[in-house]
Amino acid sequence: MVLNFAHRGSLTEAPENTLPAFQKAISHGAHALELDVQLTKDDQLIVCHDHKLSRFNKLIKGLIKDFMLEEIKQIDVGASFSEAYKGTTLITLDELLEICPEDIMLNIEIKNIPVIYEGIEAKLIDCLKRRNRMENIIISSFDHIALANIQKLAPELDLGMLFYYRILRPWEYAKHSGLTITSIHPNNVYVDQTFVQECKRLGYKVYPYTVNKEERYKELIHYGADGVFSNNPEIFVR
Ligand code: G3P
Ligand code: MG
Repeated sequence: MVLNFAHRGSLTEAPENTLPAFQKAISHGAHALELDVQLTKDDQLIVCHDHKLSRFNKLIKGLIKDFMLEEIKQIDVGASFSEAYKGTTLITLDELLEICPEDIMLNIEIKNIPVIYEGIEAKLIDCLKRRNRMENIIISSFDHIALANIQKLAPELDLGMLFYYRILRPWEYAKHSGLTITSIHPNNVYVDQTFVQECKRLGYKVYPYTVNKEERYKELIHYGADGVFSNNPEIFVR
């Protein structure tokens, strides 16, 4: 089965990384939700891709890490998307776990670059344990030190190694990292058949991001990709 990951939810239909975006993805039949997590000033896990809040409102200067959860919750992140989503707010990881069925896989990406959130790994694991949601989860990050920290704290969790740049033999890098990596998550633009085959030869699943054209989706599946991240998962689920 090819896994369809809804990238930040169904982000073409609703503001990314918000409840409506995740609910739409689930209703379209996505197998998995991808989301980004960061820490607020009061150390709460918030689901958000950008470090800067100006993304939602140009008048708000500063970073997620500079604001308390209560303050972040007052920001309207829907109005800049469309009138219909006016009043939508960011959510905590806790809030997402509350509504997410257990059979929907969660790919939680730790957004640790350029801001580095010391201790985010332990907070994430605490949250998952408290919610009894240690299954059907992949923790991923471009920050491979964060992955190492997760492995130390909760070796039972699946780890996805993210790559943005086209580096030499990332599968070998993963093997020699000393980490127990389950899946390689490459930028799809440089993924070809050899890439997929080499990863699979070393026992990794391959989940390229972010693919929005049907032709490219089919090509990646043909190469043997085990799943694909998409901004509009409904197309591929269909
Ligand atoms: O996890 C896949 C993808 O989300 C990585 O890039 O910048 O969209 O978080 P980004
Ligand atoms: Mg992401």
